[in-house]
Amino acid sequence: MRQVLVVGNWKMNMLRADAVDFIQKAEGRIRCEAWVSAPFTLLYEMHRNLKDPDRLRIGAQNVYFEEKGAYTGEVSADMLKDAGARFVILGHSERRMYFGETDEAVSKKTAVLLEKGLIPVVCCGERAGEKDAKGFVAHQIRTALGTVSASDWNRVVVAYEPIWAIGTGKTPSPEEARGMIAHIRSTLVETFGDAAEEVRILYGGSVTPSNVRLFTENGEIDGVLVGGASLKADSFVEMVNAAAMPAAV
Ligand code: PGA
Repeated sequence: MRQVLVVGNWKMNMLRADAVDFIQKAEGRIRCEAWVSAPFTLLYEMHRNLKDPDRLRIGAQNVYFEEKGAYTGEVSADMLKDAGARFVILGHSERRMYFGETDEAVSKKTAVLLEKGLIPVVCCGERAGEKDAKGFVAHQIRTALGTVSASDWNRVVVAYEPIWAIGTGKTPSPEEARGMIAHIRSTLVETFGDAAEEVRILYGGSVTPSNVRLFTENGEIDGVLVGGASLKADSFVEMVNAAAMPAAV
């Protein structure tokens, strides 16, 4: 049974005092699995302030796939673990657009995270106007997840985020999001075998406390990846607890 998961993506926001304040306000009120991906500089401070590191898990927004060495400016999986990270978002559309992250790089990063015991949250999604959105997304995930072995699928999270929905206030309808997520799941199973049934697939793009249930309520979408509405403790907790309500049958 795949558990509902809410992942916050703070992007390049928040300072240490904001992060500690967020933890103090949110941690004790969370009723389902909730993760927050923070800038590198906040991770250790957050880790130190968590009462229960399993209730609110912290993670990063990028990693480099080499283990160590002369890679100025990069951060390794061991460094992230050492700072308290449990997962890493990979292939976010902003990293693809501004920093040239490719599916090939995402696949190498996915492999190194799994080897080190960290969870990859691999993002995919099409631009506005993409004629063959399903084909585009299928190609992204086949490449980005090509290094995952059968025993690791239960430690992989995929986030479907149509680029046109990120930070715009626009979303696909819940039926459209469910359709794409079913397509992602069937593509993974056809390509990699039944073990890929275990991957959790989230929806992301303009999720708020008031629309989160539309995406999570019937259980086909395993959770959400949330940017803007994850920056305030109150709205994050509201979203997490709405997503945690049992699926309607
Ligand atoms: P948003 O961002 O919730 O602000 O649309 C989502 C994301 O970029 O992961």
